[in-house]
This record gives sequence, structure tokens and C-alpha cells, in this order.
Amino acid sequence: MSPVYCALVHYPVVNRQGEEVTTSVTNLDVHDIARSARTYGLRGYFVVSPIEAQHPVVQRIVEHWVSGAGTARFPERGEAIALVKVCLSVDDAIAAIEAREGQTPRLVVTSAKPGADRSSYAEEAERLRTNSRPALLLFGTGHGLSDRILQRADVFLEPIVGPTDFNHLSVRAAVAITLDRLFGVESPPNNPV
Ligand SMILES: C[S@@+](CC[C@H](N)C(=O)[O-])C[C@H]1O[C@@H](n2cnc3c(N)ncnc32)[C@H](O)[C@@H]1O
Repeated sequence: MSPVYCALVHYPVVNRQGEEVTTSVTNLDVHDIARSARTYGLRGYFVVSPIEAQHPVVQRIVEHWVSGAGTARFPERGEAIALVKVCLSVDDAIAAIEAREGQTPRLVVTSAKPGADRSSYAEEAERLRTNSRPALLLFGTGHGLSDRILQRADVFLEPIVGPTDFNHLSVRAAVAITLDRLFGVESPPNNPV
């Protein structure tokens, strides 16, 4: 089984016009993606932002829930938020994984846009099950990951689609759906039903 990490990338991402931009870190993304990451067994969640002034904001959230006043009230939230690491770049996240796991991770990218050479979730789930190399699942903000990141991918997952032509999921929803497709179980272990 691969050790699996995810990253929420705030740079390089694109805006509506396709220009490369940096987006701001949001409180909700830190919380909700950490909870999904913990639920589905990820080893870490990197918040990637080149804006150093935003790093203390993430650190304060982490400290509040991991060792501060939030711990006593909601200890399970601290358990999820403890997975959060803030870093300056995707390459810093890759280096941190390599330092911990002894191997560079496979890069698995996501996008709402369809295209050629996409992997199904079942294929990627099988690779994760049968491979020991770590994997880093990359999610974008703004209007999605820049081509500079997409081109480095080892695996490009197919987009999540519903039965309508409306495809504007939030990144938090996209992360949860992706993790469920890769790691979800039909019924909980020891479920008597
Ligand atoms: C607000 S969305 C950006 C949507 C953008 N138009 C795109 O092409 O991905 C931010 C991120 O959520 C994820 N995401 C959103 N919708 C998705 C979908 N339908 N399938 C896969 N990932 C999706 C991707 O990681 C995307 O970079």
C-alpha cells in the first residue's frame, strides 16, 4: 500500500482567464480537507502557498486544534488537523515526503476538465494498493492547477462528473469524492448489517 499524501495548491494555479495566479489560503479548506484526509487514511495534507505571510494563519489553526484551546472541546478535530503541514511550493511538499518515506512520490493530479490519457479511479486505486512508492494527490484552487504542474503528473485522474452538465464542484467536495473513490469502503468493517 502506498503512503498517500494530498496537497492543496495555491500557486501555481490559473484564474478564469487562464493566467497564472496565487490564491489565498482559506480557513475552511484547511479544516475540511484535513478531516477528509484523516477519514481516508492519508499520511499528510500539505497547504502549498508561496505567501509566507499566510503561513502563520495556518499554523495558528493547527496549534489551536492540536495543542491549544480547541483540543479539549474537539479532540478528534486535532487528530485531523495534525496532518496539516504548510509549505512554500509543490517541490517542498515532494521533498518533505521524500525525507519521510525515502522515495519521491508519484504525482497524481486532478482537474474538472476532461482530456486525453486520464486514469480511472479504479486503476489508480489498484496502483495505490499494490505499490509501495508514496503518492501525492494534487488539488488546485482558483480555476485549477497550472499546466506547469499538470505536465509533471505521473497520473492525471479523470474528472468527477454527475448526470448534469453543471461541473463546478468546490475543491473540498472534489477532495472528498476523490478520496472516497480511491479508498472508500462499501460498509464499515465489523458492520453487522
Ligand atoms: C474550483 S476547482 C477548479 C476547477 C477548474 N475549472 C479545473 O479545471 O479543475 C479547484 C480544484 O478542485 C478539483 N476539482 C474541482 N472539480 C473537479 C472535478 N469535477 N473533477 C476533479 N477534480 C475537481 C481540482 O483539483 C481543481 O483544481
